[in-house]
Amino acid sequence: MNMKFFSRAFFKAIALVNKISYRFFRLIGLGYFYWLIQTFFKLRFKIKALYKGTEKNRKEKYNLYNFRRNIHRLEKGLSYATLKPVFAEDYIGETVNYLVEGEKSKAFDKGSIGWGKSVLNEYFSKVNHTNTITRAFESFEGTTRNNGFPKNEIPYDEALRPSSDITYEQLMELSIRRRSVRHYKDVKVDEDVIKKAYEIAKLSPSACNRQSFHYYFYNEQKVVDKLSQVPGGVAGYQIPAVVVMVGNYNGYFDERDINAPIIDASLSAMSFLYALETLGLASVCINWPNLPDREKKIRKILDLKEHEFVIMMIGLGYPEATGKIPYSQKRPADEVVKVNAILK
Ligand SMILES: Cc1cc2nc3c(=O)[nH]c(=O)nc-3n(C[C@H](O)[C@H](O)[C@H](O)COP(=O)(O)O)c2cc1C
Repeated sequence: MNMKFFSRAFFKAIALVNKISYRFFRLIGLGYFYWLIQTFFKLRFKIKALYKGTEKNRKEKYNLYNFRRNIHRLEKGLSYATLKPVFAEDYIGETVNYLVEGEKSKAFDKGSIGWGKSVLNEYFSKVNHTNTITRAFESFEGTTRNNGFPKNEIPYDEALRPSSDITYEQLMELSIRRRSVRHYKDVKVDEDVIKKAYEIAKLSPSACNRQSFHYYFYNEQKVVDKLSQVPGGVAGYQIPAVVVMVGNYNGYFDERDINAPIIDASLSAMSFLYALETLGLASVCINWPNLPDREKKIRKILDLKEHEFVIMMIGLGYPEATGKIPYSQKRPADEVVKVNAILK
């Protein structure tokens, strides 16, 4: 009881000193500087993850995400209406090297290797073989080409894009059905259903098709309780399973991409939530506050690498029939969609 009182008083005193200091610095014209230091202090785990991730990326002999980015660039080159007889000379050697090293070290997943080989094979069959391209081709031929790979994971004609009978009204129905649900049945969520939902989530767009993030799934109640309490925001309800969405800055060589894994993971999350609904489950996103104490806690529990960071959590389960759902009114198109807004 006393401990609680003293710790509360201690943190209140710190908050007061902070407030007074901020006012003082603003008074002498250094408010922004003070805010910058404070903000850096709060965000230091994410900033460090960015630093460590990009540094590791630039140093590595092979990197899955750089490889996937380069294969994506090749696919774009191969998709031009008029194919350039020579392109990608500046990165084709590096790409084949990544493939050779990644395959040798068994660090790349089968799917990425198969797609990579398929596209490289198409590339080498279409471009003129300059000296640089010939060197890369020999390396590709000599080491990996004959190990077998899918032949059809290459750019295809619009006419071959599968059609879809899903109507606007059907998508609207699913969107109305999906709401943040906070009351669940006491039923265990199986990992198979999560993997099935991910099969839809993985089809979301991602910057250069890297997908530099992971879904950490937990369905043991004790662990779920421990995890879901870390961010706060779920007081008063029981969640049977949780996905922690973890971003990975090792997929990027430049700090400009600070948002990329967050955007990519979030886009996939929306498809994931819809997929869950079609499988009879419901979900609730759980905010991730960038507060140092939470960061320390979650890093320890999940044993995150220095270049990884939490984006958000998703609580999920089978909805309880007697639970209540907040209405959550949405803002109208006339207010949110700015049409041909004036440019200055
Ligand atoms: C990034 C994010 C963080 C959220 N964090 C929480 C949270 O911590 N606790 C909670 O109960 N709901 C949380 N939500 C759910 C929102 O409250 C909910 O999406 C919003 O009110 C709209 O309701 P709807 O999802 O039913 O459309 C979060 C949603 C998002 C997208």
